[in-house]
Amino acid sequence: MAEIRIRNTNERITGEQNVKAFLDKQEVLYEHWNAAKLPAELQEKFVLTDDEKAQILSTFDAEIRDLANRRGYRTWDVIALSDATPNLDELLKKFEQVHTHTEDEVRAITAGKGIFIIKGSDDVGYFDVELEAGDVISVPENKPHFFTLMENRQIVAVRLFIETEGWIAHPFEDPTFQKA
Ligand SMILES: [Fe+2]
Repeated sequence: MAEIRIRNTNERITGEQNVKAFLDKQEVLYEHWNAAKLPAELQEKFVLTDDEKAQILSTFDAEIRDLANRRGYRTWDVIALSDATPNLDELLKKFEQVHTHTEDEVRAITAGKGIFIIKGSDDVGYFDVELEAGDVISVPENKPHFFTLMENRQIVAVRLFIETEGWIAHPFEDPTFQKA
């Protein structure tokens, strides 16, 4: 289940209802899939063949289509990151820049963990959303954020897109942002 950490105060928000209420207020979509639907061997596998990626998409086909129908996504894929990913550190450096997109950024975590750092309302400031398998999040368009891995440095996630070109980031220069 996702947990929130507010960077300015170090306050943590836990429990599904509290997390959902907080994210609703920040206009961040938060939903949940049953990650246990995935075959056991895929729940702890972070280097995936194309067949295994297709298996993940077919396991969650109903959930993906439901989300896509409600929110207009037209394409989806599976991304897997771990220490086995070539140039992982360089990739993370690229990810760990505050940026925006012209469409919302959706991730459904199917294995491992990850963290979104999001610029909230003025009274809240930046907050972290720590995600685990089953968590589904959508960061609204034009909302500054970035994504990175947690200590275990392993994640598999389904990404959904409206634009068929996929992930396009626009840097967001923010002198008030402090890495923590
Ligand atoms: Fe992004």
